[in-house]
Amino acid sequence: MPIAVEVQDLHFKYPDGHGALFGVSLRIETGERVALVGPNGAGKSTLMLHLNGILQGEGAVRVAGRALGNGNLGQVRATVGLVFQDPDDQLFSPTVYEDVAFGPLHMGLALDEVRQRSQAALKAVGMEAYGPRVSHHLSVGEKKRIAIATVLSMDAQILVLDEPTAGLDPRARRGIINLLRGLPQTILASTHDLILVRELFPRMVIMDQGRVVADGPTTRFLADQALLEAHGLELP
Ligand SMILES: Nc1ncnc2c1ncn2[C@@H]1O[C@H](COP(=O)(O)OP(=O)(O)O)[C@@H](O)[C@H]1O
Ligand SMILES: [Mg+2]
Repeated sequence: MPIAVEVQDLHFKYPDGHGALFGVSLRIETGERVALVGPNGAGKSTLMLHLNGILQGEGAVRVAGRALGNGNLGQVRATVGLVFQDPDDQLFSPTVYEDVAFGPLHMGLALDEVRQRSQAALKAVGMEAYGPRVSHHLSVGEKKRIAIATVLSMDAQILVLDEPTAGLDPRARRGIINLLRGLPQTILASTHDLILVRELFPRMVIMDQGRVVADGPTTRFLADQALLEAHGLELP
């Protein structure tokens, strides 16, 4: 199986000149579940936006064995499902069904296949009955589920989730954790939720100030109070 994600010495500055990534390297095997943690401003979201080509910095990014940037963004975006922190950035159609069907429709699939994939994706996130609902009227937790369904319907093999449980009440948060637990895909998720990390992610990558400062087993890092404190992390 190809390596799911390979990032080598990635540097990125925003157009205003602000540096956000300073030589990030990361390798994720197919089927791995990796948590990306670190304080606000560490560069987590910026890194994630590179994994499906929304941002392009200097350095190499490969997903599922394919180098980004050779006019293959369509394929890359069908492989890497990026779920934004704010579901309102992801959902823009009048109804839930149209949001979930949007990706497969634009891949040029037959309507039957689009319908089948969309239903399956809604089922996978436990929202089968929500197709006709208005996306913008849903709760944040429901929107987050639908946002995940929009990448599942594309049959994404690599899920990149930016703070999937941020801003959720305890029940919605637990719902997302249970949903993620059951997904078979390779997952990279940024989060401040170290309980979530302990439950679902055997490997932790810690970023700070645009660099990867630690990468290893969650059990070891969560027991290392000095490491956690040094990077603004704390177990509740
Ligand atoms: N659009 C932007 N323009 C300029 N700087 C930005 C922009 N977005 C983020 N940054 C800066 O890049 C750095 C990394 O941000 P980000 O990737 O959002 O961090 P994180 O997701 O870890 O909180 C921060 O210093 C942030 O202020
Ligand atoms: Mg962020």
